[in-house]
Amino acid sequence: MYSTTATAPIRVTSILPKRGLRLTSLRCYSNTACSSGLRSGGFFVQNSNGHHRSQQQTDNKRVFSTTPRTQIKEFFPPPETDHIRDLESSWTHPVFTYKQMRDIKIAHREAKTWSDWVALGTVRMLRWGMDYVTGYKHPAEGEEHKLPRRFIMDERKWLIRFIFLESVAGVPGMVGGMLRHLRSLRKMKRDNGWIETLLEEAYNERMHLLSFMKLAEPGWFMRLMVLGAQGVFFNGFFISYLVSPRTCHRFVGYLEEEAVITYTRAIQEIEDGKLPKWTTMPAPEIAIKYWNMPEGHHTMRDLLLYVRADEAKHREVNHTLGNLNQQTDPNPYVAKYKDDNVPHPSKGADVVRPTGWEREEVI
Ligand SMILES: [Fe+2]
Ligand SMILES: [Fe+2]
Repeated sequence: MYSTTATAPIRVTSILPKRGLRLTSLRCYSNTACSSGLRSGGFFVQNSNGHHRSQQQTDNKRVFSTTPRTQIKEFFPPPETDHIRDLESSWTHPVFTYKQMRDIKIAHREAKTWSDWVALGTVRMLRWGMDYVTGYKHPAEGEEHKLPRRFIMDERKWLIRFIFLESVAGVPGMVGGMLRHLRSLRKMKRDNGWIETLLEEAYNERMHLLSFMKLAEPGWFMRLMVLGAQGVFFNGFFISYLVSPRTCHRFVGYLEEEAVITYTRAIQEIEDGKLPKWTTMPAPEIAIKYWNMPEGHHTMRDLLLYVRADEAKHREVNHTLGNLNQQTDPNPYVAKYKDDNVPHPSKGADVVRPTGWEREEVI
């Protein structure tokens, strides 16, 4: 997740001498380049030693770092290559309209089977543990003003939460995709389209993480926590997926319900003026390119709207996959249907079914 390329110390922006810097070029790079630990877009400035740095980094973008300012490093530095100009992704993000993103709602799928209850119970336990350890409290509706001062969130606290959660969120899709891939090889049978959706979800979650990483660089403690969480969660999810993939998809569906709640609250706080630094702050270039954010919608609030819409899609996809026969059913999100006149699952936000599609509707 954190490639050495991506974190290689290219230059400490705050200690670079102002003199001897010169603007060398204006270059645009794709989201893939950014996601691969290569360049992000924007101006690059070269100092007298030939080191490059992004002009954006010198602006007000990484003010919420948990690392002392003098130790902040350039992320996604330019590649050292004479021949490569850019990279291309196989996955382009579906276009979300502003209305579709505003229409995303908090939702909950009722637990009906023992497998659902195991999934829901695990998510609730993890959420409680995470909130307890990090000192986070979600106020009941209408009781926000009663929240003790220590639980009031600011931009920095939100970012730390987002980064930690996104670093974990990228695991399930990769594990699910990997295990289905291996099963297909092992059993010499086709997968029926699940693998690419699961891997795409993992890619999407990683893009969430990388977008937030352009705003803050976690310190060693945070990195240690992420490392520990990844080690435990990857192995736990790996074994659970071997035992019951259906429960795992339901678990991710419930996890994404929580993600939608979290981002909805953050968006509300921006709109209420409680996060003043984010009201006008521009979203990172990597995010603008990945979501193809239209002109006039480049703020942090817009970024969170896009991320929330993605989480809502993951919520729907995983609840739907949790309703299917894991061995034989095709993936409804890549299926071509016989009757195009009725709504079907889609990758975009044009058709949204927060609690998932039932098997009888899609197979
Ligand atoms: Fe995410
Ligand atoms: Fe997600």
